[in-house]
Amino acid sequence: FANGALTGRHVVINAGPTREALDPVRYMSNHSSGKMGFALAEACAEAGASVTLIAGPVVLPTPDRVQRIDVVSARDMQSACEQAVDAALAAVGAANSVFIATAAVADYRPAQVAEQKIKKGDKSDEMTLTLVKNPDIVAGIAARSERPLVMGFAAETQAVEAYAQAKLARKKLDLIACNDVSRADIGFQSDDNAMIVFWPTPLSPADDAAGDAALSDAQHAGLGRADLAKAS
Ligand code: C5P
Repeated sequence: FANGALTGRHVVINAGPTREALDPVRYMSNHSSGKMGFALAEACAEAGASVTLIAGPVVLPTPDRVQRIDVVSARDMQSACEQAVDAALAAVGAANSVFIATAAVADYRPAQVAEQKIKKGDKSDEMTLTLVKNPDIVAGIAARSERPLVMGFAAETQAVEAYAQAKLARKKLDLIACNDVSRADIGFQSDDNAMIVFWPTPLSPADDAAGDAALSDAQHAGLGRADLAKAS
């Protein structure tokens, strides 16, 4: 971003994984490093925005001039994000508020958290866990009547563009950035990234005049598209 481009805006970003406890010593989680969300938080602060960063368990330093709130579970992350968005809307209004969901929120959590450490059973070599769905944080914020601009991410290993476009519509996002995390050069833990960004956009009269054959797949789907190349 250009210097000062985000002055007067409040950006709420979530980042990293969540941890879903099984018992006092074990949890379920994923490989998210949080690097992308922290880098975005830093870039937004450098561009002049007030930034609130809701971080799952990661080992990263807090960027300068960024207010960081640490959380553990998906439900903790949801309430911290909802509160931070409320504060942003109250401070600068919907038109100047942005929510960016980079966190790799655990889709499910154990239905029950055991109070004591779960012991190995003697009778069976198998163990069955019942999981329940976690709330969808970004979809919840996008569903509000008064809401910030909402941007989501799609980390996929196949059919990247199609899955991302479906998510953009299902979660009612304003923007979605997708990438192929099966690629070693831009996937989890990598310092580099390359993304395709989609957003809903009506076809312009110029697009119509250009004729069907001239339209890209994204234009056919009523979407804008930008390809952001890998940058080190
Ligand atoms: O559905 P999926 O997890 O692939 O969607 C990814 C996007 O949705 C990301 O922006 C992620 O932060 C967000 N998400 C969320 N709450 C969930 C799951 C995903 O906000 N429970």
